[in-house]
Amino acid sequence: MKNISVMVSGGGTNLQAVIDSVKDGRIPDARIALVLSSRDGVYSLERARKAGIRTVVISKDEYPDEEAKTVAILAALTEAQTDLVVMAGYMSILSPRVPQAYAGRIINIHPALLPRHGGPGYYGLHVHEAVIAAGDTESGATVHYVTDGEVDSGEIIRQERVPVLAGDTPETLQQRVLTVEHRILPEAAALVLQKLFR
Ligand code: GRF
Repeated sequence: MKNISVMVSGGGTNLQAVIDSVKDGRIPDARIALVLSSRDGVYSLERARKAGIRTVVISKDEYPDEEAKTVAILAALTEAQTDLVVMAGYMSILSPRVPQAYAGRIINIHPALLPRHGGPGYYGLHVHEAVIAAGDTESGATVHYVTDGEVDSGEIIRQERVPVLAGDTPETLQQRVLTVEHRILPEAAALVLQKLFR
C-alpha cells in the first residue's frame, strides 16, 4: 500500500479527483496518507475530512520563516511515510529542499501546455488569461515532475490538449482545462507509482 501526500491551497477539485481515483482503484494499491494545505479554511480540507484523510495546515502566517516552514513540511511528509507527493494547486513558495528530498517522487499539475505559459506568476486564472491574450488556438494541462530547478520546468509525465474557442473567457477556458486536469493527474500518479514500485 503506497502512501500519497497531496499538497493543496484552494478548492481541491484536483485533490477530489485523486481521492476518487484511489477509492475506485484507478490508482491501485495506494492511500492518501496526508493532505497538506498552505492555507486554513479552504475547501480542500473539507474534502479531506469527508474522506477521512488526515490534514495539516502549514501556512506562512504560522511559519513566517521560510526555513522553519520547510522543516515543518518535510517533517509532515516524513511522518506520513510519503511515497509520492502530489502538488494539486499548491500556491505557496516551495523550498528546493522538498523536491530534493523527493526527487522523482513529486509531481505537479499545471493548467497549460508546458513549456508554454509556465513559470513564476503563471497560476490560476492568470494562465488562461495569458493563453487567450497570446491568441493560442489550443491549451491544455500538464503533469510534470517537480525539480529544484525553475518552477514548472520538470520532465513532463502526461499532457492533454483542449481547444481554445472563439469567445472563450479565462473562466470558460479554465473549466475546459480542469476536466482534463482531473483525468490526467490521477493517471500520472498511477504511472509514477507503477514506475517507482513495480
Ligand atoms: C488547478 O487549475 C491547477 O492546475 C492549478 O491550480 C488549480 C487548482 O484547482 N495548479 P483545485 O484547487 O484543484 O480545484
